[in-house]
Amino acid sequence: MLELINVGVTLDGEDGKVEILKNINLKLDNKKIYVMTGPNGGGKSSVAKAIMGIFNPTSGKILLDGVDITHKPITERAQLGVGYAFQQPPRFKGLKVHELLELSAGKTHACSACDLLYDVGLCAQDYLNREINTTFSGGELKRVEIASILARDLKVALFDEPEAGIDLWSFQRLTETFENMNRNTDTTIVIISHQERILRLADEVIMIADGTVSEITSQEKVLSTIEQFDKNCRCAADCDREGYRNVNFA
Ligand SMILES: Nc1ncnc2c1ncn2[C@@H]1O[C@H](COP(=O)(O)OP(=O)(O)O)[C@@H](O)[C@H]1O
Ligand SMILES: [Mg+2]
Repeated sequence: MLELINVGVTLDGEDGKVEILKNINLKLDNKKIYVMTGPNGGGKSSVAKAIMGIFNPTSGKILLDGVDITHKPITERAQLGVGYAFQQPPRFKGLKVHELLELSAGKTHACSACDLLYDVGLCAQDYLNREINTTFSGGELKRVEIASILARDLKVALFDEPEAGIDLWSFQRLTETFENMNRNTDTTIVIISHQERILRLADEVIMIADGTVSEITSQEKVLSTIEQFDKNCRCAADCDREGYRNVNFA
């Protein structure tokens, strides 16, 4: 189990200190899927980075299976089984796809690179020997990055907007991959996403806004809110006032 207790993160920005996370309280169980969602800039990636150790908490505690990891470095957290697939993955220049996957898998996880690529909708024949460089599109890079996380035996796997840049077919494969991971391992899966199909995988939905947890809720509740939202235009009140609603464009 991963616990965040009153976690806060304040960074040194150009114009002084910026508080990007405050009073984050979360209890994340093994073998569950959590989908983190909420407005852009709300702090979702920052929560993932605090869990991974990329951002150092300035207050509060992070416990992994009861062990205090609040100030442990990234490498140690990685060894303890925390993995994060970046929203915008760095490019590992000079490394071939199969080398990255072998490095990620280490000696602990027996899985084939071919299967891993299939899980993210990439064909092994085309990719295993390709060097990861600027010729990779954003979506390809993202999928290789996700495969490198799938390669690992993790306690906590964080996926930051995995859908970005991914075509529909690969997206379908990816949702099945998350389901399989959930079925076959005890990993706590945290997916940052705005996608309805991903929301439908959630055991719980964590809403993040203004640097904190605004609500922990069910997928049913979020999905019904989305339906309501779709029925009204986003500026319904303004449009009513201006008489723009139900304008016939025909
Ligand atoms: N390295 C950083 N330095 C200063 N501010 C940052 C940094 N990273 C993120 N922020 C700020 O923290 C807030 C939350 O960002 P982020 O966690 O990326 O949001 P989300 O992932 O929900 O879109 C934003 O206002 C963003 O500008
Ligand atoms: Mg983000």
